[in-house]
Amino acid sequence: MSGRFITFEGGEGAGKTTQIKALTHFLSKMAKETLCTREPGGTPMAEALRDLVTLGPTGRWSALEEMLIMYTARSELVRTIIKPKLEEGVWVLSDRFADSTTVYQGFAGGVPLDRIRQLHSIVLGEFAPDLTIILDLPPDEGLRRVNSRAQTISRFEKHPAEFYQKVRNGYLQIANENPDRCAVVDAGLPIGQISEQICQLVADKFNNELTL
Ligand SMILES: Nc1ncnc2c1ncn2[C@@H]1O[C@H](COP(=O)(O)OP(=O)(O)OP(=O)(O)O)[C@@H](O)[C@H]1O
Ligand SMILES: [Mg+2]
Repeated sequence: MSGRFITFEGGEGAGKTTQIKALTHFLSKMAKETLCTREPGGTPMAEALRDLVTLGPTGRWSALEEMLIMYTARSELVRTIIKPKLEEGVWVLSDRFADSTTVYQGFAGGVPLDRIRQLHSIVLGEFAPDLTIILDLPPDEGLRRVNSRAQTISRFEKHPAEFYQKVRNGYLQIANENPDRCAVVDAGLPIGQISEQICQLVADKFNNELTL
């Protein structure tokens, strides 16, 4: 018995947190036990690393150092939560995962992609999501949504505009290179239409495992 691992990716304000809740609701109607987590974070230790890496001035860490912190947190989250839960048959949904490192520290941050792949292989081997939903949105629209929400601004929301364009293009490139794993969804649509598309994607991909 194994659960499925589904990750949500996309730039700031694309709707990851909104849509992960909607899919959790859909899966619970299918009698699936689900667990939602987020990255960086998801455990007390990884949340402490999240604070270290997301708060403070932009220049606090180099992109390489960010990559190392992200993979430290990811290693612990996968080892202590994600893998054991999947083995129990729980469906695990994560708000960001390894593609975020490839995009933010790699495509946008300038760490060579083969270094990130090497580190991924050392830390996680072949472990990968069963499905990755990429919420695609022009960065200015995402930042507009985020800025209208009152909360602490993270280090990753303080970059120049080109950074977020690289983030968007990086996600689209990952989707192109991994068509079996990734699905791109237009995040500019109304919330309800996006949720319907995502539920349909999940229903189509895992139709043998869901009682529709
Ligand atoms: N499709 C949509 N259309 C309009 N507004 C949306 C849509 N989806 C989400 N929002 C709103 O935009 C804001 C950001 O959404 P959400 O927090 O889900 O994005 P996120 O991708 O998790 O952002 P972050 O990267 O900051 O975690 C919220 O206020 C949310 O209600
Ligand atoms: Mg969010």
